[in-house]
Amino acid sequence: MNTVSSYPPIKVGILGLGTVGGGVTRVLARNASEISRRAGRDILITHAAARNLDSTTANTTGIKLTQEGLEVVDDPEVSIIIELMGGYEPARSLVLRALANGKHVVTANKALIANHGNEIFAAARDAGMMVGFEAAVAGGIPIIKAIREGLAGNHLEWVMGIINGTANFILSEMRGKGRNFPDVLAEAQKLGYAEADPTLDIEGIDAAHKLTILASIAFGIPLQFDKVYIEGISRITRDDVANATKLGYRIKHLGIARRDEHGVQLRVHPTLIPQRQLLAHVNGVMNAVLVKGDAVGQNLFYGAGAGAEPTASAVVADIIDVVRTLTTDPENRVPHLAFQPDALSDLPVVPMDEIETACYLRLLALDRPGVLADITRILADCGIGIEAFMQKEAPATASVVPVVLLTNPVKEQRMNQAIAALEALDSIRAPVMRIRLDYLESD
Ligand code: HSE
Repeated sequence: MNTVSSYPPIKVGILGLGTVGGGVTRVLARNASEISRRAGRDILITHAAARNLDSTTANTTGIKLTQEGLEVVDDPEVSIIIELMGGYEPARSLVLRALANGKHVVTANKALIANHGNEIFAAARDAGMMVGFEAAVAGGIPIIKAIREGLAGNHLEWVMGIINGTANFILSEMRGKGRNFPDVLAEAQKLGYAEADPTLDIEGIDAAHKLTILASIAFGIPLQFDKVYIEGISRITRDDVANATKLGYRIKHLGIARRDEHGVQLRVHPTLIPQRQLLAHVNGVMNAVLVKGDAVGQNLFYGAGAGAEPTASAVVADIIDVVRTLTTDPENRVPHLAFQPDALSDLPVVPMDEIETACYLRLLALDRPGVLADITRILADCGIGIEAFMQKEAPATASVVPVVLLTNPVKEQRMNQAIAALEALDSIRAPVMRIRLDYLESD
């Protein structure tokens, strides 16, 4: 091994040897020499805890194995704990205990950081320890480092992105191959992209965890997962995907954090975006995050958002970061949430009702005269203009016809009123499908 330092190896303990844990052991073993040259010393996993050691794909050579996370966290030989268990407990307790034991922590656990990050970072500061969480957002894309360090000179205006690989994989397969939802989801689970509970992916909760973290480091606000507006992709049909294409758009599941004159918008929902935008061409499990800063303009970050080795790439980079800074003064490290802990802002989160977006509406209307007039009257009464209109021919035997509209930008509250009025019509079959639209212009 080509070690550049006479320092003894750093010993690392790992909690969880599932998909990502397996990837971390493989990447650390395969790239040991270069990693050692970058970190300044060798990095060895010496102790690992996993629930089911029979099914692991990890390279466990030289690793002491246990089923008890506490044994690893209390191991006096270990300096860094890698938490890859996922979920809240026992992950939270083990991370807090590791910090109290004087160990640095690296985690890929976005749910944990989004919900308990404020507590964990405070505990880390008290103990003088680091918590790396690059792998918690957008898998292999080093977006935390990019925002926290590379863009630190900017006033960041917005961050938006495709931050759930499973949802993007499903929408891409529905559009490209006309596949149905359950089939594609089963494949995403097999490939190790989906969460243990895939409703977290499909219903937008995983993306909301990641958006919470991005917004915090972009704007210097506390982690506020409970204030994110969340909508998933489970109601999107193949017809919606095809309609969007016909109108010149793609449906993407976006996380959007944007400063406006009222505060900060935090929202996750399916969104129509123009086909000409680069983000529209991010397909499969790939993620992309678009960041707008006042000085830099737009930056687009693209890469694999899930999977064993892309996520391991981020975990290992954090381990190297910790090792490199082991000798630095804890007061002068990069702050966990990019801004100094006593300089966080209390920017309010804008209520969803106040946010203005254009919308795609799909209605099922009875095939009879006057229905279209009713629809346009209701929209006009609510002050909503129509940008595009598409009425699909109904099969001869059907009594309802799909009607698709694109509206002008309108406040959410007013669109909710219009949808309620449309759904109250005898001639419209509820529910009306609404998908918000973003032109992704450079404002
Ligand atoms: N289930 C997540 C996704 C894994 O599909 O993006 C990476 O966080």
